[in-house]
Parts: sequence; C-alpha cells; structure tokens
Amino acid sequence: MSPRTKVGVLISGRGSNMRALIAACEAEDFPAEIVIVVSNRPEAPGLDFAAKAGLPTRVIDHKAFPSRDAFEAVLHQVLHDAHVELICNAGFMRLLTIGFVEKWRDKQLNIHPSLLPAFKGLHTHERTLKAGVKIAGCTVHFVRTEMDSGPIIAQAAVPILPSDTPDGLASRVLEAEHQIYPMALRLVASGAVHVVNDLVVWTADLPKGDYEPDILISPPFANA
Ligand code: GAR
Repeated sequence: MSPRTKVGVLISGRGSNMRALIAACEAEDFPAEIVIVVSNRPEAPGLDFAAKAGLPTRVIDHKAFPSRDAFEAVLHQVLHDAHVELICNAGFMRLLTIGFVEKWRDKQLNIHPSLLPAFKGLHTHERTLKAGVKIAGCTVHFVRTEMDSGPIIAQAAVPILPSDTPDGLASRVLEAEHQIYPMALRLVASGAVHVVNDLVVWTADLPKGDYEPDILISPPFANA
C-alpha cells in the first residue's frame, strides 16, 4: 500500500470543514492523513476537537508577529517540521503573501462558500442572495495569491430557495462543503488530478473507470 499524503490543516475558528477532513482520513483507503492542525487564533474551537481526535495541534498567533513574513516563516517551519506535503486551509481567514503561496504552489487547498470565481471574500451568502442568482455553492481550489482564487478542484451546486436567508443558505452550503472537501483532497492526494497551465486536469494514465466525482449537486432540486 502506498504511504498516505501528509496533510497540515489550517484553521481560524469553528473547524467544521477540518472535522469533515478528519472523518474522511479515518477511512482505511483514504489517500491522506492529517499530521498537524494549526490555528492562527488561540481561541479557535476547532483546536479542541482536533486535540480530542488525537491530532497534534499548534497555535501560531499572527498578532504576536511584527509582520506577515515573520508569521509565515514560523508557519512554514512548523509545517515543514511536521513533514507536511499538502496544506488544507479550512476556514483559515488570513491572507498569505506571495512568498508563502509560491513555496506551497499546487500543494495548498482552500475551500470557499461560493461558486468561484463569483463572490470571493467575506459575507458571501448575503451577497449571493442580494445578486438574485438561482444557484449557490462552494469550491475547493488550489491557493494563489489573489484571495479565493486558483485552479478549481471540485465544486458543489446548491439551489437557492425563495425563502432563503443568509444563515439558512450558509448551513446548506456548509453541508455541501463537508462533502466536497474530502472529495477534493482524495482527488489531489491520490494523484487523480494535477495542475496544467493553471487548470486542474485529470491525470491521463488513470485506468478507465477510475474517475471520481469532482462535482456535487445538492438537494433539493425543486423549489420549496
Ligand atoms: C466555511 O464556510 C469556509 O468555506 C469559509 O469559512 C467557513 C469556515 O467554517 N471560508 C472562507 O470564506 C474562505 N474565504 P469552518 O471553520 O466550520 O470550516
């Protein structure tokens, strides 16, 4: 059996996507394992969950550093020391500089609660509803320096209901997030996909029938 890809998860808060990744990694055939969880916020509730799940955790409080570069140098060292091969940003709400992003080019994933490239940034669900679009969703992508952008690995479409509020939509999108983040991590860690010309493509020599899903369409399909 091939060794599993070593993953470092970065969080800033609740960590529900991190929990979905932890659960996925429990499956014997999952091609990745989490070797460290790092939070830039000491009070992040996700830290406690990770520690109880038996994972090494580390707080690197960005406020304790004089610059972004100084913060990122320590973050990089901690990930390197833990032998991390792939980073999963899971609600990690800190912009990263080009230096860090390039060191981890095509080795850092992020999840965002919209169908990128639409609705990058904060207050996604409010803006989605205000725009009157009919389909919301979420995206897992490789990280580039521009916020919430980079080659798209997996997406889920979540229909908007006439009665939707930002909170209601957020919770349905979050359910989809918990499904596509493990899907996307499996695709990358297994080598099923890789980046060519800044687009995610299927690895050509995959045996026929070995393709895994990279999209998810969430229920309900009909209006409520
Ligand atoms: C998730 O909805 C994630 O998509 C979003 O933050 C939330 C974190 O929740 N990330 C972004 O908006 C990144 N731009 P979680 O801590 O429960 O995973």
